[in-house]
Amino acid sequence: MATIHFSRILFNRSPHIVKSAKYFPSSIKFYSVQASNYEFIKVEKSGEKKNVGIITLNRPKALNALCNKLMNEINDAVSKFDNDENVGAIILTGNERAFAAGADIKEMMNNTFASNIRENFLEHWNGIAKAKKPTIAAVNGYALGGGCEIAMMCDIIYAGDKAKFGQPEIAIGTIPGAGGTQRLTRAIGKSKAMELVLTGNQITADEAEKIGLISKVVPADQLLNEAIKLGEKISSHSQLIVSIAKESVNKAYETTLQEGLSYERRMFQATFSTKDQKEGMSAFVEKRAPKFTKE
Ligand code: CAA
Repeated sequence: MATIHFSRILFNRSPHIVKSAKYFPSSIKFYSVQASNYEFIKVEKSGEKKNVGIITLNRPKALNALCNKLMNEINDAVSKFDNDENVGAIILTGNERAFAAGADIKEMMNNTFASNIRENFLEHWNGIAKAKKPTIAAVNGYALGGGCEIAMMCDIIYAGDKAKFGQPEIAIGTIPGAGGTQRLTRAIGKSKAMELVLTGNQITADEAEKIGLISKVVPADQLLNEAIKLGEKISSHSQLIVSIAKESVNKAYETTLQEGLSYERRMFQATFSTKDQKEGMSAFVEKRAPKFTKE
């Protein structure tokens, strides 16, 4: 099997080599230049062209429970990758045991209705969903409550074969607050969503794939590699057209079919005003690879 070299450049302050490759298959060698002031996440660029941004949740002792600081760090990192023109796709991942076990129960348990209203609590979780660039959740281990919800904020979910998904809020006296009653229902339909939300039961990666919550299950140790390959494939296309395609798919959630079809057609027509459409179609006719310029 070919050895893949990933040169991983992190938001760079004081470079030093990081050797750990716990979640990478042995066929992958990678080199990290470590950096960043983040406390609960790690950020890096991967792929042969370093065009895939990776955000790794790194609060293992709390199973990556999503405290406010962690969510603010994710928002910051997503926004930086979204504005980095060399990055064509963004991966959100955790560790083998947990993608994320939900909102931080200890941090929020003494919130009051008044304080939630005052701060519009959980509104600051929306950063992932606001990204213009495609986002990929690579889920190993638990994706529960808010963990499942931030995975669903991503455009595509891949999972390792030991992953577990669920909305267990009901068991702790609350309900999902960041999309677990909305995105989940749109993804898997009313009956399944009701069952998950009302029981708090967990489902396996295979079940999640079967009901359409996620698009692929792979062996846990190959998950990140598969997600990176997906990110590289997406990044090989015109970033401009990719963002139009993403926006058009998302319209399907927000409009009637007729409005959505009309929006799609107009966006399709608009792509003909771009250099990348001319380049893409010329390259096809001339039987060569396209060189996209994002214009
Ligand atoms: N918040 C805070 N801490 C958490 C946490 C959470 N959501 N999930 C796990 N932890 C902490 C535990 O308290 C524990 O810390 P200590 O060692 O300091 O006690 C540590 O992570 C390890 O957890 P467990 O000992 O419980 O590990 P386990 O293997 O026995 O169980 C688990 C794993 C089934 C995931 C269990 O931890 C669990 O049920 N977690 C809570 C899941 C949950 O209810 N999530 C929903 C939160 S509410 C929400 O997310 C609302 C929303 O819509 C945004």
